[in-house]
Amino acid sequence: MTMLRLHGFASVDIRGPRALPLVGTARRFISFLDDPVGVVLALRRMGDVVAVVDRNPAIVCVFGPERNREVLSDPDTFHNPEDFFTGPDGSAREKMRAMVVTSNGADHRRRRRLMMPAFHRSALDGYAEEIVTLTRSLVGAWPRGEVVSLDGLCRELSLCIAVQCFYGVDVKRGASVLGQTMAEFVRLVTSPANILFPFDLPGTPYRRGVQIGEDLASRMLALVESKRQSGGQRRDAMGLLLDARDEHGNGLTADEIVALAVELFIAGSETSSMALTWCLLLLDQHPRVLEALAAELSDVLGERDPSPADLPKLRLLDRVVKETLRVLPAAPILFLRSATRDTMLGGKAIPKGANLVVSPLATHHDASLYPDPDRFLPDRWKEIEPSTYAYFPFGAGPRMCAGALFASQSVRLMLAMILQRFHPRTVDAGPIDRRVRANILNAQHGVHARLCPVRANAAPAAPVRGNIHELVKLESRGRS
Ligand code: HEM
Repeated sequence: MTMLRLHGFASVDIRGPRALPLVGTARRFISFLDDPVGVVLALRRMGDVVAVVDRNPAIVCVFGPERNREVLSDPDTFHNPEDFFTGPDGSAREKMRAMVVTSNGADHRRRRRLMMPAFHRSALDGYAEEIVTLTRSLVGAWPRGEVVSLDGLCRELSLCIAVQCFYGVDVKRGASVLGQTMAEFVRLVTSPANILFPFDLPGTPYRRGVQIGEDLASRMLALVESKRQSGGQRRDAMGLLLDARDEHGNGLTADEIVALAVELFIAGSETSSMALTWCLLLLDQHPRVLEALAAELSDVLGERDPSPADLPKLRLLDRVVKETLRVLPAAPILFLRSATRDTMLGGKAIPKGANLVVSPLATHHDASLYPDPDRFLPDRWKEIEPSTYAYFPFGAGPRMCAGALFASQSVRLMLAMILQRFHPRTVDAGPIDRRVRANILNAQHGVHARLCPVRANAAPAAPVRGNIHELVKLESRGRS
């Protein structure tokens, strides 16, 4: 079974840091799987095609818009990992290979085409209503004045929105159990131990992933079933998926439906919740931006809820979300691409089977593209219009995020509604350290904040600790 081909390559002319054979090499691969952001940041000054281990093509990072374009615009040469969800024959984990993100070629094109109507602009207004209603009820119940786990609350909110908008089933109470199961599944299948030791033996993360996969699949089937029984009135994503037909009149198979149901959940809830959490953290740490945004929300909306029609008028809100996704992209690196044939990138020979890393975060922190790249400066968006492969928080090319429009709208609506009620002020409850799992930029120990009422005057932010400072210069840092 090959989860990720890491060995058996001949030496190539791609330079990178040297490592001792075997143990040194294995250690560097583990450190990449554990902290890919730290590794890409360390390698980005060594060129635009850099090996994680000197002359070893097993993991090769590419940097800069041109190299990003070469990899991302050519999905036939650079495949997504297909066996991310490999499992024993017939297991739910194995069936999850039918996800869009783990499909290639004709399968990918077909599944993506069947999925896309659920996320077209025409479907968005319906979702917006659900998002606003749920956000009003959930955020309205957040404990005013208390210290909370901000990422925890944002996760719960995104999760409930995902369940409601994607499945059209009100499972507010069951949503957190489902979310925990999902999070545990993702944690297991993306852990370095699982990727490097994919064997179905007792006590391994692989075996546990198989078990949780079954649990997850049966919960998803139950959701799909309740959707089928509730009839076709509601145009939620699952309803649209169940109705979708390809050009031959064929719909998605049962396995595909379960895989896509899990995929929507994985792809759509944790990414949005972290985008929201990072927006709130950066606003807290830049009180003048927060104050200006509060004034914009008050001018445009007053006390009423936002609607999609308001979003074009909320220009600073738009710049804040764009700048957050630039400086702390929820997806800091993309799925590894593997070369399907010998090819060239930036003048370097890339052998078949090599794994390529493309990083929105490294690109977004390139000083030649963004002056003062580590500063959170929403107003830079008044001046700049970066190219598709220079700014790509949602990926780019034929595999660009299927839910980009949905996510852009939902994050802006949620953020506006939270800020109409609270200004979360970060408290020091531990360091804010990055943790990348399933390609998502999380805060390892969470982000804790006091839910303060909205105030006109911008109080200074409390300093935060942790390696977040390697990614972004926070205003509070100057005073700590
Ligand atoms: C702020 C929120 C989100 C961010 C930052 C984000 C980011 C991304 C990125 C960077 C990719 C490309 C991955 C790659 O090329 O390796 C991607 C793919 C994808 N996203 Fe999102 N995403 C978000 C929300 C969503 C939502 C809400 C959904 C679904 C409802 C979704 C569904 C997908 C799917 C299905 C793919 C795979 C597309 C393909 O391979 O053809 N995402 N996302």
